[in-house]
Amino acid sequence: MAETLIIPKFLNRQAVYDSLIPQIAALVEGEPDLIANLANIAAALKEAFGFFWVGFYLKKDNQLVLGPFQGPIACTRIAFDKGVCGAAYTRQETILVPDVDQFPGHIACSSASKSEVVVPVFDQAGNVTMVLDVDSDQVNDFSGVDVAGLEQIAELIKTF
Ligand code: SME
Repeated sequence: MAETLIIPKFLNRQAVYDSLIPQIAALVEGEPDLIANLANIAAALKEAFGFFWVGFYLKKDNQLVLGPFQGPIACTRIAFDKGVCGAAYTRQETILVPDVDQFPGHIACSSASKSEVVVPVFDQAGNVTMVLDVDSDQVNDFSGVDVAGLEQIAELIKTF
């Protein structure tokens, strides 16, 4: 297992995802513990990009419950019909919000969060088991590059 991330500095985000994703694959390879792997993935994304908040909300019973994350403390439970996380879970698709103030129902865990991407994570049977939530303190901080990179990470999670 790789224990140190090698992150290219001064490169664009695409290059960082290209470098990071194989390292994440190596990091989780052979480790069956879900929480340990999610914790390392959140840490790797935070370290590589310096995002304001990176974490997982896991489907438990009939809601989303906070899982491993990096960043300030956050809302613990999110109903399926609330927030960007609930919308991504319910629609079963990635949601990119350039400006959270323009997203009706956005849950402001922190007033510093300005834009976000939430990616559903599917299991092998096609059910959404959790969402990956990445928040920025900058408006309009995410693009299709982030969507593609984070969806690749969601695909990796499906395998363990
Ligand atoms: N942004 C989320 C809430 C969770 S926090 O941002 C960590 C939402 O509106 O779903």
